[in-house]
Amino acid sequence: MVINPNNPTGVLYPESVLKEIVEVAREHGLVILADEVYDKVLYDDVKHTALGSLSTDVLTLTFNSLSKSYRACGYRAGWLIVSGDKSAAEDYIEGLDMLANMKLCANVPGQWAIQTALGGYQSINDLVGEGGRLRKQRDLAYELISAIPGVTCVKPQAALYMFPRLDPKVYPIKDDRQFFLQLLEATRVMLVQGTGFNWHAPDHFRIVFLPYEHDLRDAIGRVAGFLEDYRNRHAAGTPAEEAAVTPLKKAAR
Ligand SMILES: Cc1ncc(COP(=O)(O)O)c(C=O)c1O
Repeated sequence: MVINPNNPTGVLYPESVLKEIVEVAREHGLVILADEVYDKVLYDDVKHTALGSLSTDVLTLTFNSLSKSYRACGYRAGWLIVSGDKSAAEDYIEGLDMLANMKLCANVPGQWAIQTALGGYQSINDLVGEGGRLRKQRDLAYELISAIPGVTCVKPQAALYMFPRLDPKVYPIKDDRQFFLQLLEATRVMLVQGTGFNWHAPDHFRIVFLPYEHDLRDAIGRVAGFLEDYRNRHAAGTPAEEAAVTPLKKAAR
């Protein structure tokens, strides 16, 4: 299963990595599931490579939808492309067809929009290009988050997310789920803890930079206030687990 561009990191995998993934699948007879729903949400002129385009033999299922590049998630309209060598996959494909026919209750009017969307004016390009709303929001969120002491982040080149790291020396968090629940209660800003994405250590979190600039400033400002309070309490010798619990008047303001 490959999510490229990636949620939650906003990373775009280089072609060399994708080729290695194809090679692993080839060697072990695996089917590749490629979720490429953010394939048009790209910044800084980077290019996305479709995994399915890298081989003609490895069975690859590529998923996409109107939800992201066309901002039409309410339509519930997506599609699946099967590529590669299908000779050993007849039963599998029959199963997919059966599922589509019987179980998914397809949104037929929404499906009519797909062809028009794919062939029509690609309004996403205005949003991600220089001066575009998503591009500006990405830059602002990155700048504000990176300015918080002890917080570092890889600048996302795609999608709508970034995955900052909290330096454990500055933020010795033991249970990140609990920590971000406390942050939510104190600031009313919802972030997802890294372990929620199966990240192994309690030292990352995900930000969605979809809100408008004004709201991003407000929200990240509150997060910065919460983290500042945590640092002050921690530095003052309060045990790490309790540091986040104490009422956070500043952050709540
Ligand atoms: C990687 C990825 N795939 C798919 C989706 C959802 O797509 P859809 O609305 O078409 O179900 C999301 C939404 O967050 C996503 O992040």
